[in-house]
Amino acid sequence: MKKLTVAIDGPAGAGKSTVARLVAERLGYTYIDTGAMYRAVTWEVLRRGIDAADAVKVAAVARAINLQLTTAAGKTLVSVDATDITDDIRTPEVSRLVSEVSKNGGVRDAMVNLQRQMAGFGGVVMDGRDIGTHVLPDADIKIFLTASIAERARRRWCELTANGFAVALQDLQAEIACRDKADCERAIAPLRQAADAVLIDTTDLTIPRAVDAILKICEARTGVL
Ligand code: DC
Repeated sequence: MKKLTVAIDGPAGAGKSTVARLVAERLGYTYIDTGAMYRAVTWEVLRRGIDAADAVKVAAVARAINLQLTTAAGKTLVSVDATDITDDIRTPEVSRLVSEVSKNGGVRDAMVNLQRQMAGFGGVVMDGRDIGTHVLPDADIKIFLTASIAERARRRWCELTANGFAVALQDLQAEIACRDKADCERAIAPLRQAADAVLIDTTDLTIPRAVDAILKICEARTGVL
């Protein structure tokens, strides 16, 4: 059976990573979380104390680091130069700065090169903001996953509080709105639905149902699962 390339894009908190991981598991494919890659660069920029507005230095960081994504026990592990930073890239500090870092053209070129290499032989589910429009324009399946901003903020709040971060729901909603705006309005590869992507709204949809909907689309494409 042909191994598909599945691109899942959408705004923060739409459920992309959970859904994409489960779809990959069901298909026996590799899951690639491209948001984690931009977060890893942001973490390294913070660690080195570089001003995120310094485009030249920030792009140099993206080119210099040895960024690895691996999967263990259903979780994506992220490392930079052999240091595991899986949990460090989810802090509010990284979340606040990641849009600034990810609008940098040099950073995007470095990440997109890596992403295309990772997707080289198919059998991947890749999630992000520009996968269907820019990274893998010829992906076999393109999904645009979204949800209302109130629901997306509620999900992120649950995730953060479960991990011990004290954040106010209202602040989180404002931050997500700000990140959506930055991701949609940036000059290079902004967040938008590809013309040939299937829109799935998860506001009132459970994760298993969203996963099933995507698997059905894959099945229709290959004839088998
Ligand atoms: O999916 P996430 O929230 O972990 O992504 C973090 C940030 O990375 C997001 O605000 C925008 C950026 N990003 C991007 O610009 N392009 C991608 N393909 C994935 C993420």
